[in-house]
Amino acid sequence: MYIVKQKVNGRDYYYLRKSVREGKKVRSLCLAYLGKDLKEAEKKKKEIEERIVENPDYFEEMKVNANFIKDEKEHEGENKKEDLSNVASKTESSLKHVELSLDEMTSFCKKKGFVYASGELYGGLAGFWDFGHLGSELKNNLKREWWKFHVHSRKDIVGIDGAIITNPKVWEASGHVVSFVDVAVVCKKCKNKSKVDKHELGSVKCEKCGGEFESKGEFNPMFTTQVGPIKDDSVNAYLRPETAQLIFADFKQVQDNARLKLPFGIAQIGKSFRNEVAPRNFLFRSREFEQMEIEYFIDPEKKQDCPYLDDVLDFELNVYSDEMQKKEKQAEKMKVGEALKKGVIKLGWHGYWLATEVKWFVELGANPDKLRIRQHLKDEKSHYATDTWDLEYNFPFGWKELQGIADRGQYDLKQHEKFSKKTMEIMDDSVGKKVLPMVVAEPSLGVGRAFLVFMFDSFYKNEKGETVLKLNPKLSPIKAAVFPLVKNDKELVKIAEEVYEDLKQEWNVIYDASGSVGRRYARNDEAGTPFCITIDSDSIIRQDVTIRDRNTTKQIRVKIKDLKDVLRGLVLGEGVI
Ligand code: GAP
Repeated sequence: MYIVKQKVNGRDYYYLRKSVREGKKVRSLCLAYLGKDLKEAEKKKKEIEERIVENPDYFEEMKVNANFIKDEKEHEGENKKEDLSNVASKTESSLKHVELSLDEMTSFCKKKGFVYASGELYGGLAGFWDFGHLGSELKNNLKREWWKFHVHSRKDIVGIDGAIITNPKVWEASGHVVSFVDVAVVCKKCKNKSKVDKHELGSVKCEKCGGEFESKGEFNPMFTTQVGPIKDDSVNAYLRPETAQLIFADFKQVQDNARLKLPFGIAQIGKSFRNEVAPRNFLFRSREFEQMEIEYFIDPEKKQDCPYLDDVLDFELNVYSDEMQKKEKQAEKMKVGEALKKGVIKLGWHGYWLATEVKWFVELGANPDKLRIRQHLKDEKSHYATDTWDLEYNFPFGWKELQGIADRGQYDLKQHEKFSKKTMEIMDDSVGKKVLPMVVAEPSLGVGRAFLVFMFDSFYKNEKGETVLKLNPKLSPIKAAVFPLVKNDKELVKIAEEVYEDLKQEWNVIYDASGSVGRRYARNDEAGTPFCITIDSDSIIRQDVTIRDRNTTKQIRVKIKDLKDVLRGLVLGEGVI
């Protein structure tokens, strides 16, 4: 083993090298970084030699991981948070995005522990899914980010958490009992089961084979249940088919308690249930799912006044209006301001909410080219909606609804007034009178559909053909993996365990000591872990660690005392390696 000096940007860096014979060739491996001072380097070399005498495995591990410490420039960006972006600007990612089919995504999710068929042990149950150790973390992170963006970071929206089963009158008032009705159909040719709207009967053909559908009668997709154990005293109730109704039913109390002034929104995340005729496409259409919904209320006389419009006028949307659909044109990219000027989007409020929802997806890593906003055709709208735009995503099975952004008008509050015989009017101080607010936009998003978008758009392969799940660190199930370079070196293990315990206080991190560092990287890249933290022999002397970035594989050394601050910045996207 010998020391070599390397000049980087005019500074001297010392490395420990060793020549190894491979067949007829002799290769020089760079085994460790020894610092910037020759004396210090000699001291470290001695320590490493002693360590190898004590533990011969240590050298073998160093050899296996020689590539990982070969990049001598790694020490350039040493330790300084503010240096991180400089280092990042020099890096080029060699990852390639891979378009997976739905089946491939389903089996990847199962293999890695994201999502399983619920009750798979007994053959599963169509339309029900369980989220595994990675899937439940990703789902929780996704919901947290949605809540942060839509509730915590705004002064005009508060949240509630309503019951899944409520008084059945709520669903009579909302129109779900009478109007939330589909027609179950079966294809005469291929026996494919599906559902169609009443008006589509006779005109829609089977999406699988083009055959004609036979009607199996109307059905209401609400699940019913009995509340109360004694049949004669019990009440037949419904599992909620949307979270939204609880917002309307609780409207007066929430507005009063939270002292909300128009315009304002009420948000909710929670489970919904629909007895779908044909649950399909993995999480896309299931029978039990979660929704993230907002009802945004305004004074109906102020439909034209959106105080937030300036924030989004220059935001570009991929627009597919009813006109474009009727004329069989393609969707067109246009700025919100332009779409409003041309009358494609009629209300400023709609432009604002459509842009806000697209923004949320794009900021968290969704591909904007696979998102478009599509206006509902006249006969497509729900029983309550006056204008509806869907945010659609180009899934492997085509452009499909990701999120509905309906304009529900005063429909729901009027219905609850009628059925409860209680007023839903509130005071609008700015005009000094009571008004019945209207819902100008109802952004309503299925958690499972958002989950799929981020999974599809994050699926990459590196140059070795290994999967790298390039999730935004805010969404990643595991924020960092902590490795001791050698698993049976007591000193390294002690530091690694301390680092792990400390980080665990703030994030979901894992401790991983099995296999070579290369294998540990690959395992964590596949799980979407954005940062791997390695404790090596230098860590003992310098009290520092390396952080390796999943997307670029670049590394920086960071003092252990600064690690949490640096990692926090990296997870929040305020710095990159
Ligand atoms: N409150 C309005 C409402 O529920 P919706 O269009 O029926 O409107 C809103 O549903 C969103 O909920 C959809 O855009 C989709 O993301 C999600 N969603 C609806 N049905 C679903 C199902 N069966 N499986 C998964 N997600 C579903």
